Amino acid sequence: MKVKFIPQNIELEIKPNQSILDLAHTNGIHIQSVCKGVPSCAECRVNLADGEHNVFPPTKKELNLIGTAYYVDRRRLSCQLKCFGDVTVDLTHQIEKENASIAKRPRGKAQKEGESSAVMGNIILEEGKLKDVQKGQIKQIDLDLNRAERELLAEETRLALEKIKRRQKVDDVKEEDGEEG
Ligand code: FES
Repeated sequence: MKVKFIPQNIELEIKPNQSILDLAHTNGIHIQSVCKGVPSCAECRVNLADGEHNVFPPTKKELNLIGTAYYVDRRRLSCQLKCFGDVTVDLTHQIEKENASIAKRPRGKAQKEGESSAVMGNIILEEGKLKDVQKGQIKQIDLDLNRAERELLAEETRLALEKIKRRQKVDDVKEEDGEEG
């Protein structure tokens, strides 16, 4: 009892009572499945390209999930699909879904590198800003030091002048005393 998967053209032997989904997954063939065969997700639908007469018809459970869509596209839940003869399963729709989800996925490695370079760019930018800030701070410190130096110099000059004035006063008093004496 054989199952052929197209468009991959992979032919596999299926065990009695084994589902098409299980056969595919056991052999590394991708079929989307969220519920792992509960069935509740309806993601595992496939087309039967050949051998419809070799499969069991959909159960009430399967029909409840896929609803009237089954009568439109004839797709079956591969997790519920079991055969008793050779069939050909068309996975074109599954491949298209997979490709679409890959395209939508968050950025891969190459794009991460791009992201990281953007991050690097930001870091460089931040470093630049930091340097600017540091430069500004250094400038401010220089200005503060200059002001402090000037103030100190002015204070020293003021004190020196006071000292000179005081000495001058003492000398004047001495002179006055000398004249009187
Ligand atoms: S795997 Fe979810 S319905 Fe078939």
